Amino acid sequence: MRDPKAGRKPLFYVALDDPDWEKDRLLVEQLRDHVDGFKVGLGLVAWAGLAPVQWLRSEGIDVFLDLKLHDIPQTVATAAAAAEQLGVRFLTLHALGGEAMLSAARDVCQQTQLLAVTLLTSLDQSDLAPWADETDPAALTFRLAKLALQTGVDGLVCAGTEAARLRRAVGPTPVLAVPGIRLPEQASQDQRRVVTPQQAVAAGADLLVLGRVITQSPRPLETLSAIR
Ligand code: C5P
Repeated sequence: MRDPKAGRKPLFYVALDDPDWEKDRLLVEQLRDHVDGFKVGLGLVAWAGLAPVQWLRSEGIDVFLDLKLHDIPQTVATAAAAAEQLGVRFLTLHALGGEAMLSAARDVCQQTQLLAVTLLTSLDQSDLAPWADETDPAALTFRLAKLALQTGVDGLVCAGTEAARLRRAVGPTPVLAVPGIRLPEQASQDQRRVVTPQQAVAAGADLLVLGRVITQSPRPLETLSAIR
């Protein structure tokens, strides 16, 4: 849990989203002294398994394991226990999995901090309309955030566009992690609700997930330094 008195120094995690671990590893070597850690997500795990996580931890590098777990409570607890054993710092799971699922993960994690994904930044009103009674992304985000925090999770993953209102609603303690970061003028690609690094920090984000803004930059280290 973030120390509310420690001030608002955001953490920067770079997403290792290339399925080729050797390419990701080159990026790690280039950036490891300039970031707080690396995010390993489904794309890489599907191709390389958990070896990247083990390697990063053996190097003393912090890992944000972005598995976005969403399954029955017993299965999610089993997976969360593995993340805890691997020494992962942050693990994601979907708030939509419900209270019992979130609590089951909470019960097996001591060191690993749980971040509940509220609503994917790739979704907007038109995606919600076919199935949700609440189609305003911000309103749905608040409902899911409230549900998740009641279970004792450490924080939330949210769009930067919702971070400021969410911060006001949940107070200073929960970690707010914001993906969907783009530089001004940069295309949002498959994301719908994007913000610049400055906007994310101003909105009260504690952790910025830097994906293609770094991984597709011709000069990742320079771009990272400019952002920081
Ligand atoms: O390249 P880009 O900046 O869009 O990458 C964002 C990263 O954050 C990806 O690894 C994606 O899986 C992750 N993420 C996200 N939206 C969430 C949670 C995680 O885009 N709600």
